[in-house]
Amino acid sequence: MRVSKAVIPAAGLGTRFLPATKATPKEMLPIVDKPSIQYVVEEAVGAGLDDILVITGRSKRPLEDHFDRNVELEAALEAKGDQDRLDLVAASNDLANIHYVRQGDPLGLGHAVLVAERHVGNEPFAVLLGDDLIDPRDPVLARMIAVREQRGGSVLCLMEVPSDQISLYGCAAVQPTDTHDVLAVTDLIEKPAVEEAPSNLAVIGRYVLDPAVFAVLARTRPGRGGEIQLTDALRELARMPVAEGGGVSGVLFDGRRYDTGDRLSYLQANILLALDRDDLGPALRAWLPTVLDSEGP
Ligand code: G1P
Repeated sequence: MRVSKAVIPAAGLGTRFLPATKATPKEMLPIVDKPSIQYVVEEAVGAGLDDILVITGRSKRPLEDHFDRNVELEAALEAKGDQDRLDLVAASNDLANIHYVRQGDPLGLGHAVLVAERHVGNEPFAVLLGDDLIDPRDPVLARMIAVREQRGGSVLCLMEVPSDQISLYGCAAVQPTDTHDVLAVTDLIEKPAVEEAPSNLAVIGRYVLDPAVFAVLARTRPGRGGEIQLTDALRELARMPVAEGGGVSGVLFDGRRYDTGDRLSYLQANILLALDRDDLGPALRAWLPTVLDSEGP
């Protein structure tokens, strides 16, 4: 069955960005001049997924407003004849069919995905985590969907990280397959200590999941941090036969990716994406060396 639905968990409190996130959802913080969640929605749409479910929570209403019309603003820009800005405002109105459901108690990423069950039904679906920004120049989701179509089961996005960073991620034990960028996942551990990590392959926040994940999540006990972990459910799926919705593959990703939930990486994402822009790139490129020189080492 074709993958057509995407789930975007967005119920987190964004405490790493306080005070900015006191009254504003972290997903609305801009990368250059676009809210980070819009990049994620555009990525899903770019991979052919036009039915999007955002898992929200309290104080996330600005997300819904952003993907809806702003009639007053549009009228004001139209009256001024400012077509360029009108296009920017309208771009997020009709990107996709976007639905919202609240998570209620924030019991972890696995729980957020379980909340999507009624909307997703018995179809394979994608999950995109907003804290992971995949550079729009290096899309990976379409490849993951193609691997799901070939191999069945669920598909993870895996990226090599320095071993001292593996404890920040889910970590996969893998075996090679006939295809150079595809690995068979044999085991998973959520945020292992470096000496327990079976590899330096980190799970990045893009998933294509078999609907069998829902039944497994429903019986998954709280794991690391007292939260219901998606990684723990995937670990079980990795041990189940493909005929029962099990089997987990990994697509090796070596493109550009930023953890926008981390302040330093967030700043880097802003600079790197601005450097690539025609309107900002040349001036920023000229300015950066001067500020580095004047600040000293
Ligand atoms: C989540 C997952 C983790 C994954 C990471 C990717 O962790 O639980 O397995 O590696 O996203 O960003 P979080 O960063 O939300 O704690």
